Amino acid sequence: MSVELQNLATEIALQAGELIHRRRREGVTVAASKSSAEDVVTLADRESEDLIRSLIADARPGDGFYGEESAATGSSTGVTWVVDPIDGTVNYLYDIPNYAVSIAVVEGDPDPHSWTALAGTVVNPAAGETFSASRGAGATLNGQTIRSNTDVAPSLAMVGTGFSYTAERRIWQAGIVQQLIGQVRDIRRMGSAALDLCSVACGRLDAYYERGLNPWDHAAGALIAQEAGARVGGLNGAEASRDFTLAADPVLFDALHEMLIDAGAEASVLG
Ligand code: IPD
Repeated sequence: MSVELQNLATEIALQAGELIHRRRREGVTVAASKSSAEDVVTLADRESEDLIRSLIADARPGDGFYGEESAATGSSTGVTWVVDPIDGTVNYLYDIPNYAVSIAVVEGDPDPHSWTALAGTVVNPAAGETFSASRGAGATLNGQTIRSNTDVAPSLAMVGTGFSYTAERRIWQAGIVQQLIGQVRDIRRMGSAALDLCSVACGRLDAYYERGLNPWDHAAGALIAQEAGARVGGLNGAEASRDFTLAADPVLFDALHEMLIDAGAEASVLG
């Protein structure tokens, strides 16, 4: 069942990826802004979500839908699709080729987090890369098995992170970076949480963390990273969630967890 869902998610993500890549070449139109003026929605975000939604409804009419750009629908099958039609929208706006369609298929409730991910696919159409996984069956990049890095000392770790859109959150997040940057090899902010998690899965990053992600940002990438051997979770034994998401090899996970707590990552300054 998970492999069938993975194949369907991949088929749909590739179609949506093709659409957004084509629209990028034609020119991007900003349709609206959300949490701040910098947090934009393009027409392509909406078109991509509409396409994904209709393809899912045709193939599996009873499943739920939980996407970034439209109202959620409940599930009569217990299965819900968690969708980011363009993750890395600001990269997309600037034609930085690091944006993706992210589709996860989960059992349970997407919000608040109480789900088991069954399958997930993240497509970066500009790079021609498809990351995919189904529960218990490993993770792949363009069909080849991938594994996350192991045995990396914290001081040699390449760590990815991301920032929210509001100034208050960004200043808080910068404070954590300031604490961490002297303790690791380097820190990258690449602009797509889904691709950051896939980067952990394939060894382009040793670790990734972020405060304030939405379910559609991390649902597919988290499964892909886990299936590639990484541990993905929140702070103090919690699941990855809006509150906190950390991904790394289990040994590095524990070391970074401690460093992040010391840096003040538990502070509840972000509603
Ligand atoms: C954003 C990206 C970014 C992350 C933000 C997300 P969006 O998603 O994943 O890397 O740092 O927290 O909101 O807005 O491009 O879908």
